[in-house]
Amino acid sequence: MRRVNTLEKASAQFFYSAIAERLFTNTWYSLVTKLDKNGEETFMNYGFAELEGTKLELAPRFEVHRCAVQLYHHVLSHAAVRGKDVLEIGCGRGGGASYAAANLHPRRYVGLDINKTAIAFDRRFYGEQKNLEFIAGDAHALPFGGDAFDVAVNVESSHHYRDLSAFLGEVHRVLKPGGTFLMACFPRKNELSLLREPLGRSRFTCVLEEDITPNVLRALEIDSARREDAIGRLCPAPLRTFGREFAGVRGSELYESFASGKRRYLNFVLQKKT
Ligand SMILES: C[S@@+](CC[C@H](N)C(=O)[O-])C[C@H]1O[C@@H](n2cnc3c(N)ncnc32)[C@H](O)[C@@H]1O
Repeated sequence: MRRVNTLEKASAQFFYSAIAERLFTNTWYSLVTKLDKNGEETFMNYGFAELEGTKLELAPRFEVHRCAVQLYHHVLSHAAVRGKDVLEIGCGRGGGASYAAANLHPRRYVGLDINKTAIAFDRRFYGEQKNLEFIAGDAHALPFGGDAFDVAVNVESSHHYRDLSAFLGEVHRVLKPGGTFLMACFPRKNELSLLREPLGRSRFTCVLEEDITPNVLRALEIDSARREDAIGRLCPAPLRTFGREFAGVRGSELYESFASGKRRYLNFVLQKKT
């Protein structure tokens, strides 16, 4: 396994700091799209490995991203999606949206992201999927009327938001009465209250809070070599430390924080109250 040096550790901590968030998160996501012109990496999540149970049948274009697809499949398995209107907030490079629209048969699946470069990529790359559309927008001010969606989903995006309460209020507004909100996120253990307090104050009932850290850690183990290879090919040398941290490969600060219990990976199923 690669050893992480002090400079890499400091870079990793900076990557998740509030200063970095303001300075370059949007730039980083735009850069990912520019570096990966051919759309090899259409997912930007840590993945999910089934520790037991049946193996999901996947088309070849999804098989290569099996762990990342399984995360979406698992998160979305907690809501009735077939024939419904679904909004994904923070859809990134659209892999999860494309998988869900093609395999879970929603009537309409809308992927929203603040990053305009990613949305332009998504529109080009998935233009042929009829029940799938993409729109640029901010999680804090969703560009939709009230009661518009049956299901909302959010995968590894909320750690970027400056105001979780405002975000939850917006999701509540755009969901139909009784609608379901699915949120997968990875808070540090000592910052769990920053998540739980706004959730407690929100107008959602928490139907399920599930700790899937072991599944995510296993997925990172399975996928690390493939991720390292992609970083080596797609990232210029000075950016590879960020690339590894972002991808959560074995030996990264992020991977170690899951392994040591400093971070947890949580999956919430929330129901709109009224
Ligand atoms: C780690 S990526 C996850 C992407 C996707 N969910 C996936 O699993 O592949 C986080 C995404 O959240 C988006 N994001 C960050 N802040 C946002 C905001 N305020 N509103 C909407 N999207 C946002 C970023 O642009 C990025 O595409």
